[in-house]
Amino acid sequence: MITVVGSINMDLVVQTDRFPKQGETALGNLYTTVPGGKGANQAVAAARLGSGVHMIGAVGQDAFGDELVAGLKEEGIQVQHVKQTDGASGIANILLSEGDNRIIVVPGANHSVTTEEIDALTDQLAASYLVMMQLEMPIPVIQRALEICHQHGVPTILNPAPASGFTAELLPYCTYLTPNETEAEEIFGGDWEAALEEYPNRLVVTLGQKGAQFYDGEKHVLVGGFPTKAVDTTGAGDTFNGALASALAEGQAFEEAVRFANAAASLSVEKFGAQGGMPERAAVIERMAGGRP
Ligand code: RIB
Repeated sequence: MITVVGSINMDLVVQTDRFPKQGETALGNLYTTVPGGKGANQAVAAARLGSGVHMIGAVGQDAFGDELVAGLKEEGIQVQHVKQTDGASGIANILLSEGDNRIIVVPGANHSVTTEEIDALTDQLAASYLVMMQLEMPIPVIQRALEICHQHGVPTILNPAPASGFTAELLPYCTYLTPNETEAEEIFGGDWEAALEEYPNRLVVTLGQKGAQFYDGEKHVLVGGFPTKAVDTTGAGDTFNGALASALAEGQAFEEAVRFANAAASLSVEKFGAQGGMPERAAVIERMAGGRP
């Protein structure tokens, strides 16, 4: 069982031909609401690939909250530790244009989770094969969950997104850290390749279509990305993380797990919505069999 401690958002997505300039009003083409949140996305990615997944988080007592919990249940994710609290669910305001996205997250209920609640879930964390987290929750909550896992020898993946919440105190407690290139620069400064050497087989930097890079203790390894036709890149990083968790939890070697995660991420961008394109296992195996770039 993989446990995800993370955010659950409703994504309010506007598609437009170009991003408006500062102070400009532009007409959009389409407005859609779809389930998102880095935590929920990573949970869904792992569940679609066949992992048992348990979610810890919070939504509001509003229509979005009901819909988000129902969506997680439909994916077969355990939601008994997703609380419904007073106030609004988290939302992400997403602008899709020019093959890219711009996102503003309003955490809402996600920020109501407390360290005391995490303490009360120690047994759940301790019984997990692997625990996965991001930084859309209060940082002390993430810190506490990492400490509990560390104490109980449970491996963790911390996806440090958004990186602005990252603090160096988190690092010693996580088993794996999975920033993208921008986040790696924010955390380690310009020379993140040097940081890779300090954390062999633990720190992997995702590089979009190029793939992902880590250091195996002797050499730098660039695991190439798979060719894809991107429709919507929202949630590609989350798919990578969910797939990496699935692969590591079932005992795959690190490089193989990264390759599996790259293949899953390449499929995820081919459909609209953070969760819309997240693949099932058979599709990932097929993409991997299609050749390694
Ligand atoms: O990583 C993509 C996600 O970031 C979106 O689903 C949005 O909710 C934000 O959390």
